[in-house]
This record gives sequence, structure tokens and C-alpha cells, in this order.
Amino acid sequence: MSSYALLVAPSANRVYARAAAALTVAELGVLAETVLAGRLGQATREVLAGVDYVTFEGDLDTAGLAHLANVSTAFALFERAGDETFRPVPLERLDCLDDDLLSILKYPGKTNELFTKLLLNVTVLASGGAARMLTDRLRVLDPLCGRGTTLNQVLMYGWHAAGVDVDSADFDTYAAFLSRWLKDKRLKHTATNAKLRRDGRTLGRRLDVELATSRQAWADGDTITLSTALADAREAAEVYKAASFDAIVTDAPYGVQHGSRSAAGLGRRPLELLGEALPGWVRLLRPGGAVGIAINVRTCPREDALALLRDAGLEPRDTEAYRGFEHRVDQAILRDLVVGVRR
Ligand SMILES: C[S@@+](CC[C@H](N)C(=O)[O-])C[C@H]1O[C@@H](n2cnc3c(N)ncnc32)[C@H](O)[C@@H]1O
Repeated sequence: MSSYALLVAPSANRVYARAAAALTVAELGVLAETVLAGRLGQATREVLAGVDYVTFEGDLDTAGLAHLANVSTAFALFERAGDETFRPVPLERLDCLDDDLLSILKYPGKTNELFTKLLLNVTVLASGGAARMLTDRLRVLDPLCGRGTTLNQVLMYGWHAAGVDVDSADFDTYAAFLSRWLKDKRLKHTATNAKLRRDGRTLGRRLDVELATSRQAWADGDTITLSTALADAREAAEVYKAASFDAIVTDAPYGVQHGSRSAAGLGRRPLELLGEALPGWVRLLRPGGAVGIAINVRTCPREDALALLRDAGLEPRDTEAYRGFEHRVDQAILRDLVVGVRR
């Protein structure tokens, strides 16, 4: 066993105020229950020389350290020898694209990027795909994808991303942004716009993109796909193939107004929407696949959200680690997340 100290990204402290260390402890707790079971000790917040760290013991090989590198708040990792000596440990992140993919678009109602990464990590760790997350291109759907924060984080990991959103301004803005960004970065890609039709009726529109991180990868056919559909989240199972996703990761409407985003139909109560949409989402998951949903507990209480997951046939994950994610966003939003796994 070695002792480690993880330095939390300063941006995380800005975003989460005092919750960053606690959220990091909870994310490490999920790692300790899943892919690093028996190899990662209890994490705690510790102030060393006036600086906030999250410290823990671990028996970590290269893969174990790679999992730590992808922790949403991880800024730097040190192995400790005694109290005084810190040896920097290189962080080999999955990131395969420039990080401005996540930061360029700014808009009211955007889900925080670090929180999106945390939700993606925790959901995939709970799923049967966890063991493949460092080696395979997983497939992840965000059925309430807005302007694509989850989709971009999924692409950042080199995984296949798919989205659905009912707001045409969101669909158009994301499609235009991604096409522009891929051109600016001179990344090889194709993009196809089409009508979305099922059984002779038009459901909406869709965009399908295929890209590669280098010319060689493109030549080798080693590509990443992104699809997004302008459609209702309750019809997601009509848009994508059954049992084709490793994870579904989404930030549910908070039931409060976000800037100008008040188009008709978007003010539905989050619990009602989730109750109607979840059965279709479950059909889209591979066996062992997981759903992770960010909720505002003021409009969608945790116990009610867990009950919805159960009603949809999912097995909720509700250990102490998974119960450690509640944090304040603003006066109207107390954010939490719930995770359920398809048997
Ligand atoms: C909290 S926002 C998600 C924001 C997104 N993560 C981002 O960063 O851009 C919730 C999204 O749900 C979408 N939405 C609400 N009701 C919907 C429905 N019935 N079908 C599809 N999308 C819906 C809204 O348009 C909004 O983009």
C-alpha cells in the first residue's frame, strides 16, 4: 500500500465552492467499490501546508492510476513518502481531443463541465462496462442533451456519443458548433443531416458525425461516432437501436427557469418526464448498462427518483459513496445524482 495525495483542480473549488473535496471523496468511494475494489482505501479531505488535498492509501498498478487520472476533479497526484516528501505521479488521462471542446460554448442552463464528467464517471463505473472504460470505445446516450456537454465529454474520452433534445435551438446550436470546431481543429470527419422518420411519420431531425483523432486513425477506420436527434426524450427508443448503449447519462430539467430557456413543454415536472421516459431508456441499455441522472432534489426528491429507477426495472446504487454527491448549486437548486443498473 502507498499513500497518495490528490490535488483538486482549482476550477472545481470555484464551481462547487466548499463541496469539491467532498464530491472527490464520494467519486473515489465509487472507484473503491467498483474497479478498484480492495485496492483503494477510504479517502479523506486533508489540509497540508495550508492547501486542500484528498488523501488515501492505495495499491495501484498502471490501470489503477489511470482510473485516478480520470477522476473529475483530479489536477495533480502525489505519492507520499513520510509527511514531507511528495513524488508527482503522471496522470495518463483518457482525453483525446482539445479541452476547448467542452469550454467554448457558454449558455444559460449549461451543465457544469466537471459535474458532467463526474456523472459520466460514476455511471460508467456502476455499469458492466466499467472494466472496459480504459480500453474500449463505450457507447453513451444523453437523452436530454441540451447543447451537448455530456456528448462532448464522451467524445473527449474517445467514446461514441448519442443525444436527444426536443429544443430545436439547442439541436441547431450544437450541430453548428461541432461542425465548426471539427473544421477549426482540422480533424478528418463526415457529417450527415437527415430527417428523422419512423413508420412513415416525421419524428424530427438527426445529425450523424464520424470523426477520427488523427489522419492515421481515419485511414485505419478507427473512428468515433456522434449522433444527435431533435426529438422527444420519451421517444429515444424509436431513434436508437435497442440494447446498444453501455450508459445513459443525463442532467434532468431542474423544474426552475434557466434564463431564456422557457420554451413550451420544457417546464414539465422532472419526475413526470423521467417516469414517462425511463422505460424507453432502459430498452436502449445493454444488459449491465447503467443510467445516471442529475436531479434537483428540491423538485425531484432523491427517494422518488430512486423509486422511478426501481419501477423501470433498474437496480439502484445507493451505498454511502453514491449518497455523497448532494451539493448546492444556487438558491433554487440542490443537486444530487441517482444511478441504476440494468440486470
Ligand atoms: C438541464 S438541461 C440539460 C443541459 C445539458 N446537459 C447541457 O449542458 O447543455 C435539460 C434539457 O432537457 C431538454 N428537455 C426537456 N424536456 C425534454 C423532452 N421531453 N425531450 C427531450 N428533451 C427535453 C431541455 O431542452 C434541456 O436542454
